[in-house]
Amino acid sequence: MNGDDVRMYGILPFTTRMTVIQLDSGGVWLHSPVSPTPERQRAVDQLGPVEHLVAPNKIHSLGLKPWKALYPSAKIWASPEFTKRHPDIAVDTVLTNDVRAPWISEIDHCVIEGHTVLDEVAFLHKASKTLIITDLIQKHEISGESCIWRGVKHMAGVLGESGGVPLDIKLSIRNKTAFRRSIDTILKWDFVNLIIAHGHCVQGGAKEDVMRAFKWISGA
Ligand SMILES: [Fe+2]
Repeated sequence: MNGDDVRMYGILPFTTRMTVIQLDSGGVWLHSPVSPTPERQRAVDQLGPVEHLVAPNKIHSLGLKPWKALYPSAKIWASPEFTKRHPDIAVDTVLTNDVRAPWISEIDHCVIEGHTVLDEVAFLHKASKTLIITDLIQKHEISGESCIWRGVKHMAGVLGESGGVPLDIKLSIRNKTAFRRSIDTILKWDFVNLIIAHGHCVQGGAKEDVMRAFKWISGA
């Protein structure tokens, strides 16, 4: 479900997307929640009550509070560094690789280790064979972009359907072995689709696409 556009660092235009999963429980799992307009809330309500709100990295906090206000019993799950950046948001569970979440039979998760910019948690929705990534892979839309931002995003390696891992993330790897181990875990997952928070998703053939995105890590 698409959200409002935001400005990264106050200037860089980003489209946004939240992922909505209807769990076997009948409840709803919201990943990287965008602001809940009445239309978005209606669409979510048609699937069931929101049970889980997931902040997949320390940056994506946008819609957590408003969705929590609408569904006070929803649990907030967050990435390892999230509470340091957002002490005002009460997190129920910090997602580490040891956490066995109640949705474990339907959704797998993996904390991406080894880099300093992001503390991202990747997810796999098993039934639909869909990998869910937030900022680690970006494929920003070309249409509607000004020449300047097209150029900036092209240089950062995140423009269009052939986008990939942003340059700032590539440059901020502090432990290549740990990072590679996390990516290996993801690549072993059984997925064919890719949902990302910023830009083009991939329906079918996503494994090859993600392998291509991580080719810069030798052997990936
Ligand atoms: Fe983001």
